[in-house]
Amino acid sequence: MIRHLFPSKSRNPIAERCEKDNFTKLRHKYALYYQIAERQDGTQITIDGKDLVMLASNEYLGLSQHPKVVEAGKNALEKWGSGTMGARSANGGREFHRELEEELAAFLGKEACHVFSAGYLSCMASITGFAQRGDIILADKNLHSSLWDGIRLSMADVERFSHNNPEHLRKILGELDPDTPKLISIEGIYSMEGHIGALPEITQIAKEHDCFISLDDAHGIGVLGEQGRGTASHFGLTDKIDIIAGSLSKSLASTGGFVAGNASLIEFLRTHCKQAIFSAAISPSQAACSRAALKIMQEEPEWKQRLWDNTRRYKALLEDLKLDTWESETPAIPIVLGTRERAYYFWKHLWEKGVFSVISTAPGVPPGKDLVRTAISARHTEEDFEKIEAALRYANSKV
Ligand SMILES: Cc1ncc(COP(=O)(O)O)c(C=O)c1O
Repeated sequence: MIRHLFPSKSRNPIAERCEKDNFTKLRHKYALYYQIAERQDGTQITIDGKDLVMLASNEYLGLSQHPKVVEAGKNALEKWGSGTMGARSANGGREFHRELEEELAAFLGKEACHVFSAGYLSCMASITGFAQRGDIILADKNLHSSLWDGIRLSMADVERFSHNNPEHLRKILGELDPDTPKLISIEGIYSMEGHIGALPEITQIAKEHDCFISLDDAHGIGVLGEQGRGTASHFGLTDKIDIIAGSLSKSLASTGGFVAGNASLIEFLRTHCKQAIFSAAISPSQAACSRAALKIMQEEPEWKQRLWDNTRRYKALLEDLKLDTWESETPAIPIVLGTRERAYYFWKHLWEKGVFSVISTAPGVPPGKDLVRTAISARHTEEDFEKIEAALRYANSKV
């Protein structure tokens, strides 16, 4: 079947490398990724005719099918069309971009905000927009790939510190030239581990060493802080964080991303950052859906309440089953199985019993941390929990 998918026709070494790639062949053999659902209704999805409960979405608040979000998207499509066909720096800027940016900035407690067409771009830009050759970036070892790409593109030197370990960060800083400009790159909630970033300690260390802090809060927005204002707000440290970046594709129920900070920082980013200057603006319906979700977050607190009620219930179940959740403190909850084989079979048994999860193995996670990533949504129902519990008990008894 695999041979049939990729019939040999290589004309050059690069095409040949792609054709022979063992990881791609393995991916096809085990069919772990790139599933296509033919239907979705809330937490229910259907893949190849099989009904599954979604237990791996980043839609923490469950707003993507909220009537107000859907209506906002439709209205924007009707009013503005499908896209603006240009970068914000050139022909693509519209009134709704400014409105979304102003609303997001106010919500996050920052003066200004710039919106991108993907969270990946915005998180890259949260580094490349500010760090440059000659600077030093202090990076948590477990950062998201978008931040590593930003770090690489910035041409700054990089020092890695142990995951969420302020003391290690302090030690490294103590050995560096005090006059070199430094940027600390951290996350609010680490998406694979579910850990909350150690912001109180890290902001203190940053102050002692004159460091700029860039926070990726893709998973913290909607989940932590008053009305879901994120991890900085949760700790009352918004003023101590220079940049808050994130995604619109999680609690904000759309696609896209943002970088927020003081007006001078955002204007600097708009002048210099290639991801802002040379990439097309987000579409009218994407922006409208996020604006609607942002409003719901402030007017309908029940979604966040439900998310945390469901999270506590799910955590209790995992504890009862004595599963290793890597001390996750949030709705992003890994089940650490420790080896690739165990993670695979656990994932497969969940699937058989109608539960959709995502597998992540080394090198995507540290050695010995091969895991099945699960995530809770405000939308999970009593019926979902019954199915999830049965599937977890089954998978646990089999591996
Ligand atoms: C921590 C983190 N940053 C950035 C991104 C990129 O966001 P998007 O998927 O909206 O491109 C993700 C996506 O999973 C993420 O987990």
